[in-house]
Amino acid sequence: MTTERPPDWDPREPETFDSPHAVYADLRRRCPVPWSDAFGGFWAATRYEDVVRIARDNETFSTAVQNVVPHVPRSSRRPPLHFDPPEHGIYRAPLDRVMSRATVRRLEPAFLAAAGDLLRPMLARGGGDYSKEFALPFAAQCFAEFLGLPLDQVLEIRRIGVDYSFAIQDMDKPRIMRASDELYGIARALVDERRRDPRDPATDMVTGLLTADPPIPGDLVVGTVRQTIVAGIGAPHAVLGSAAVHLAREPDFQQRLRDRPDLLPNAIEELLRLYAPYRVFARTATRDVEVGGRTVRAGEPITMLFPSANRDETVFPDPDRLDLDRSPNRHLAFGRGAHRCPGTALARMQMAAALRSLLESTSEITLDGPVEMFNWLEFGPKSVPLRLIGSLPTGEEAPVAG
Ligand code: HEM
Repeated sequence: MTTERPPDWDPREPETFDSPHAVYADLRRRCPVPWSDAFGGFWAATRYEDVVRIARDNETFSTAVQNVVPHVPRSSRRPPLHFDPPEHGIYRAPLDRVMSRATVRRLEPAFLAAAGDLLRPMLARGGGDYSKEFALPFAAQCFAEFLGLPLDQVLEIRRIGVDYSFAIQDMDKPRIMRASDELYGIARALVDERRRDPRDPATDMVTGLLTADPPIPGDLVVGTVRQTIVAGIGAPHAVLGSAAVHLAREPDFQQRLRDRPDLLPNAIEELLRLYAPYRVFARTATRDVEVGGRTVRAGEPITMLFPSANRDETVFPDPDRLDLDRSPNRHLAFGRGAHRCPGTALARMQMAAALRSLLESTSEITLDGPVEMFNWLEFGPKSVPLRLIGSLPTGEEAPVAG
């Protein structure tokens, strides 16, 4: 970064479950587009209006140069995220087809079964670490069902993905490249396998990409798969951990949802709003541009702090409160504009299966130790010790913890 400026905040400060939201509220008031010299230097948009503008204006704010903070050295550009419209649409269309609500609905019974299988041993023990023992393997299993990969391979992908994110945070180039190569290797092997043994292109993502019209070059099919395997596991893992913390702290809210399961979809939207798991997605300015009274110079990165924009008090009254009647609720957990998450239907179905199973099989969910957070890139808890009182969905009584 060429410009010398005094920093307005430091995103590397240690965080608790609540502290980032207090920091963001203060920034929204005091300095809505702060500059930080961390991670090579970057701007951050904290307000809803600025985030929406950045996400929508692909000409001024490009993903083709740097689209996350810190900058990750790329061996090659990976569709669809690293491409701007209109080219972006070529890679995005096949993903939208296989990830539509109508197409992924068939996976719902498998998601519910996975949730039950993972909860059963936790209930039998009276609790456990919801992030490690449920959210992680559950997100992996759902992704394995979607992509048609064996579960142990998906867990390996997640392990490498977490290692990758820590390497990025440490700006450790050799480790970043090693992890990235491993992820490319997995993507390449999967693409080769589907080339040899195609599946139904209407439901199988890789076959859909291989048979896309207009055709996508082989290395970019591999790049798209590589992009998706990282995007598809981390966010559900993080947001489910946060949702469990919220539930555990609010017994009345738990009970309301047990009594009124029809409110679960609203609850999920509010949980997504409050605990949006991404704050690292960025754009690079293609020209000097004013954002929130600051001048972002051509070539400089600006992140969209979705968790902050989602608690912007000018858009969401009483923003820190989970409000089951909030309407409209145009939160930005899935982004906005051309790059808006294609996995929304999958993500919502996963959350519904996980939370429905948790609420139906328990009468009480409480925290059983300190919540530990991941890091800047993986925004969510890495440890959520829970005490669970409940009976198993089979009707079998689980021992009461104590
Ligand atoms: C709670 C779960 C999820 C959340 C909150 C989430 C959030 C997001 C956000 C905010 C973006 C936009 C990034 C940007 O504008 O720079 C995005 C993009 C993306 N997401 Fe998700 N995501 C989730 C789950 C998933 C799943 C399950 C998949 C795939 C199975 C997935 C695949 C992708 C892909 C491929 C992109 C890039 C889209 C593009 O560039 O056009 N996501 N996601």
